[in-house]
Amino acid sequence: MDTVAAADIVARLKSVVGPKGVVETADAEPYFEERRGRYRGAAMVVLRPASTDEVAKLVAICAEARLPIYPQGGNTGLSGGAVAAKNGALINLGRMNRIRALDALNFTITAEAGCILAELQRAAEAADRLFPLSLGAEGSCQIGGNLSTNAGGINVLRYGNTRELALGLEVVLPDGRVWNGLRGLRKSNTGYDLKQLFIGAEGTLGIITAATLKLFPRPREIETALLGLKRVEDVMELFARARTASGDQLTGFELIPRIGIDNVLEHGEGFREPLAAKHPWYALLEISSSRTGAQLRQALEELLEAAMAADLVQDGIIAESEAQRRELWRIRAALAEQQDKLGGSIKHDVSVPISRVAEFIVKACKAVSERLPGIRPYPFGHVGDGNIHFNLTQPPGADKAVYLKRWAEFNRIVHDIVVSLGGSISAEHGIGLVRRDELAHYAQPLELETMRRVKAALDPGGIMNPGKVL
Ligand code: FAD
Ligand code: MLT
Ligand code: ZN
Repeated sequence: MDTVAAADIVARLKSVVGPKGVVETADAEPYFEERRGRYRGAAMVVLRPASTDEVAKLVAICAEARLPIYPQGGNTGLSGGAVAAKNGALINLGRMNRIRALDALNFTITAEAGCILAELQRAAEAADRLFPLSLGAEGSCQIGGNLSTNAGGINVLRYGNTRELALGLEVVLPDGRVWNGLRGLRKSNTGYDLKQLFIGAEGTLGIITAATLKLFPRPREIETALLGLKRVEDVMELFARARTASGDQLTGFELIPRIGIDNVLEHGEGFREPLAAKHPWYALLEISSSRTGAQLRQALEELLEAAMAADLVQDGIIAESEAQRRELWRIRAALAEQQDKLGGSIKHDVSVPISRVAEFIVKACKAVSERLPGIRPYPFGHVGDGNIHFNLTQPPGADKAVYLKRWAEFNRIVHDIVVSLGGSISAEHGIGLVRRDELAHYAQPLELETMRRVKAALDPGGIMNPGKVL
């Protein structure tokens, strides 16, 4: 495209959104930053539309001009999916942040894509309902981004991934037409379930502009415990016991390694050793019920007593107040936030069947340590969903840049083990740019072919978030 044509298209795009919807070059930097600093974005123009109609008009102009479109939500993604390139238009949904409707009897909420996740949670709470999606970035990620990455987080065990929470979507297709699929139905078998295509598509098939989502009764009783254990096998045995003993009321079950506690104590603010002694592994678990008088405390105490008698759990605390509960979850959040303080960190976001989590961690730790003695595995996360953030911290004193050059090499070692155990190379963060080559390596040829056919059918011009996922 020559400069005159490009300037003409940019002018047309800007006129659709008006001055409030145009981000000036001087203010564009935050839209180009990538969370983990592995990529740097750019764009011909950064636009912030205020309505579905404006998004549709923008996309129609881009489609006609074959101009790449890069959708962006809160830009908190961890796979490089929202990184734009200088040949295209970055469309950020942040101004489309209205709650359109809340139907308490139907247990649904309809929100625009740019609605911040924490705002959505608050709107549900105000109506005595729960929107259960919860993750460390909830203060800045947007529901459109959550849907596009099929985000997971800390309550998946009980309520499912974002996919399970979505009942209907409104989407601007790559030709600029609007598909209104905003249904609030639990049951509807009317042909292909189109919304599923856009969930987890990372912006490659269209722009989600609104969604109707499931709500749940708000929990009235919550019990949270942090427990110290000797072996990762014990953690997983405890998980099975906790699911059963709680009457299947387990909402979260997270793994914390000792290296994570050490790191939080050293680099975080206001933390203290959580238990009397140090333990190789910790489990943070939470059970909840929407009923008062559910006697969760008693169930938890009985579970712990039995687990300690069986030498499964060495020590533990149960939160005595909401403040103490928050403090326990603060350790978990800091664990993720502070992970890079120890130096270069090679990331993995993998899942295996829950029954193979311990085996995976033991095998993968051994394999990476054999390849690079002194490497520090930092495995943590949502093991109740079989999801491990198997991150690898550089050996102490190693050159960070030299270490990070070995990213692909360690990915291959870890992902080979994951796949041999029937697992997935991306449990919740998505493919984006960071795992695109790994997807090409591990996906079945027929899977890749089918994905490419879906992409070509919906986006024949290849303008939607090009270069991502496939
Ligand atoms: P962005 O980062 O802006 O975009 C992500 C992808 O979605 C991109 O491909 C983008 O093109 C596309 N996209 C965004 N909006 C739209 C739209 N409206 N239509 C079409 N495509 C769109 N993730 C988890 O799953 N679980 C966790 O526990 C978790 N914890 C995190 C903790 C921290 C501290 C941080 C920083 C991130 C965490 N994440 C987690 C990752 C991230 O928050 C999620 O992936 C989140 O869903 C991204 O939302 P976003 O609005 O920031 O999307
Ligand atoms: C988390 O669970 O904390 C995030 O998904 C992981 C991360 O930040 O690596
Ligand atoms: Zn996570």
